[in-house]
This record gives sequence, C-alpha cells and structure tokens, in this order.
Amino acid sequence: MSSVPRTIEWRNSAVVLLDQTLLPTQVATIEITTVSVLVDAIQRLAIRGAPALGVAGALGVVLAMDQCIRESWSPTQLDDAIDAIRNARPTAVNLAWAVDKVRPLVPEGRDVVFAAAQQIAAEDEAANHAMGKLGADWWLNKVGDRPLRLLTHCNTGSLATTAWGTALGVIRELASRGRIEVVFADETRPLLQGARLTAWELDQEGIPYKVLPDGAAAMAIMTGEIDGALIGADRIVANGDSANKIGSLGVALACNAAGIPFMVVAPESTVDRSMKTGKEIHIEFRNDEEVCNFAGVRTTPLDATSYNPAFDVTPARYIAAVVTEKRVYEIANGEDLNTGSAA
Ligand code: MRU
Repeated sequence: MSSVPRTIEWRNSAVVLLDQTLLPTQVATIEITTVSVLVDAIQRLAIRGAPALGVAGALGVVLAMDQCIRESWSPTQLDDAIDAIRNARPTAVNLAWAVDKVRPLVPEGRDVVFAAAQQIAAEDEAANHAMGKLGADWWLNKVGDRPLRLLTHCNTGSLATTAWGTALGVIRELASRGRIEVVFADETRPLLQGARLTAWELDQEGIPYKVLPDGAAAMAIMTGEIDGALIGADRIVANGDSANKIGSLGVALACNAAGIPFMVVAPESTVDRSMKTGKEIHIEFRNDEEVCNFAGVRTTPLDATSYNPAFDVTPARYIAAVVTEKRVYEIANGEDLNTGSAA
C-alpha cells in the first residue's frame, strides 16, 4: 500500500486525512487546519474507525492549540474547541480516550501534546501487529491449522487504524501464513464500509474475498460456508459486551446458532472498564438521508423516515474471544475484561 496516502498524518502544520467517503473510486486527501473542518470530517466519516478516530482526536488537540494562537482565542474558546472534537462522535471510546490523554498536557505546550499524539499513533501500530499474531494463533489452534473461510463486518483495516488493522490485521496475519482461503466481507449498510473499504484493502493485499449483502451473512454462516467471524469494536465494556458497526450483532447471533466462533479484535484503548455492561454504551443514531438514499439517489418515498443506529452491542455471551494487544480474553470460558480471569 506504499503509493496510497496514510489514513491520517500530520504534514505542513495540518492534519492530512485520506478521505474515506471517496474510496474506492477516488484516492484523495484533505488538509485540515481548523477544528470545525476536523469535526465535520469526523462526523461525515471522512475519517472513521475507532483507533483512527483516537489519533484524529489527539492530533485535533494540537490543531486546536495552533488555531488558538493564530486566532487569539481565549482559554474558554480553546476548551470548547477541544470539547467539540472529543464529542464529535459518541460511541467509539478511542476518540474521547485520546483527547483525555493529551488534554492535561496542554499547559506543557504544543510540542509536548504533539509528541503524545504521535505516541498514540505509534502505540496503535504496535498494538495492531500484536493483535494480528495473537488472533491468528487463536484461530489456528481452535479451528484448525488450514486455510480458513472467515467473515468480517465493516472496515477494521489500515483505514480504521494507523497501520495494519484489528480484525483485518488478524486476517492479514493469517494470509501471510497462507491460512486464508477466502474472506467474506459484509457490504455494511448503509455507508458500505465493507464493500468500499474492506474490499479495497483486501484487493490491494491480493487476499481472496467476496462481498456479500449484510442480509446474506446469516445464510452463509448457517449453510457452512464460513469457519468463523471476526470484527473490530468501538467500545468493549468490563463484562465483554462489545459495540461495533450496526449488523455485527446479527453476525454474532448467526455464528452462535451455527456453533462457530465469533471473535472481537480491538486495542486496549477501545476497552472501557468504567462501564460494567453494554447497556451503558451511548449508541450514535445517524440521519435519514443515509438510509433513504443510495449513491445520492432517493430510494424511498420522500416522506419516509429511518431507524439508523450506527452501532449495535453484542452481548459477551455471544463472543468466543476478545483479542487485544495484551492477550486473548476467552469470554466464552467465563473470563471478563476486568480481571481476565473467571467471572
Ligand atoms: O461508523 P464507523 O465506520 O466509524 O464504524 C467503524 C466500526 O464499527 C469499526 O468496526 C470499529 O471502529 C473498529 S475499527 C478497527
């Protein structure tokens, strides 16, 4: 992927994002120098995916500090700008987590905040590779040391992180060991992160894949087309309940009905131990337009409204294992994220 711009980086006093709303037909970047444009980019999913949002949040604080100097903001204006970044999207904990991590450093100066933001990005990259190895070992031990047919939902690759990916990082690692037969990539309605982004990443890597409508996942799972499923997460709480892109829950239920493993892969920065169960997770609901239009064309009656949650929560009891860079939590065997031991 060397010719492809990085998902997010700091260049020439700006946050530079690969605009994920345009992929795969256009590979274009946006240079951002103001907080309002960054917040807009986050909200319209030009940058998305929990770990990438964390990096955007941390670099956003640097951006806010620069804008504060340029435009002679008051301390309150700076605080409000940082809050706007932190609250741009509510479900992925990484955004608030990263802002809260660098914000206390603001009094120490811009360079200290910048270094901390860069460290968050570097740690994410290292975590990606560690999860890839742990997750790949788990699949080969549990399911069999052979090429696997795995289903994934949404996009959890380099576009959603700083590097290699979470669930897609496990798939990359398995592919590098010759242990992927095919990846079933759910298209992921309504914004098609699977069909547009995961398929694009798999294509670049030369990993065999099929794109399927979200509604076809249960059939593929129940008819034995798939050995297991793995997804990322936007927030994993203490008991293992995991929020991820809408449609993940259906995949988990079907895997459980079929008796095949359903795995969640995410860095420790996505684990929110302050929440005990998934009931506490704030689910983002998005606008009617995303559901009532397809590729800019109205597909519903003009006065139709929508039910458009961006995420759902899979209860821990449907998750075989949660993989972070630290370890594999065998949720199905009674472990939880708090102690890592029998609950
Ligand atoms: O709305 P999105 O595209 O930001 O949702 C992203 C997901 O649900 C991902 O699966 C999750 O953030 C994990 S990314 C490694």
